[in-house]
Amino acid sequence: SQRTLVLLKPDAVRRGLVGEIIGRIESKAGWTLAAMELRTLDRATLEQHYAEHEGRPFYEPLMEFMASGPSVALVVEGERVIEGIRALAGPTDPIAAAPGSVRGDFGTIVRENLIHASDSEESAQREMKIFFPDFA
Ligand code: GTP
Ligand code: MG
Repeated sequence: SQRTLVLLKPDAVRRGLVGEIIGRIESKAGWTLAAMELRTLDRATLEQHYAEHEGRPFYEPLMEFMASGPSVALVVEGERVIEGIRALAGPTDPIAAAPGSVRGDFGTIVRENLIHASDSEESAQREMKIFFPDFA
């Protein structure tokens, strides 16, 4: 099975959607929570996490939003969980996301799209080390 890094972004925490989203993840057969923490992400952590986007026009507003309040960081373990949580989240733009997905059900704004999930095995390994250095 696989492990992936999930963030419930500050909008999800502010809007009280943590239980709803974790509930959807836990409901999937065989998927389990392997680590979880609520914390306001600092600049250094966010720079590491979003290094691939540095210099893009949305980078600074994204960093500011991501530091605007606590997020929930999770490691989820299970069958095809990397692809699976990307599907459960829906595409980046919540308006393009189908109803039934987290972004499709709860989002309207591209930046405030509720959830992050690692997009590959390599990203998952890299991101788990950023948020849970003592884990895995
Ligand atoms: P993550 O799971 O958070 O990585 O989202 P993603 O993989 O669907 O998107 P991507 O990695 O391309 O971008 C990271 C985050 O930056 C997105 O989730 C959005 O919050 C934000 N973002 C990406 N593209 C845009 C954009 O064109 N405009 C704005 N405002 N924000 C963007
Ligand atoms: Mg991404």
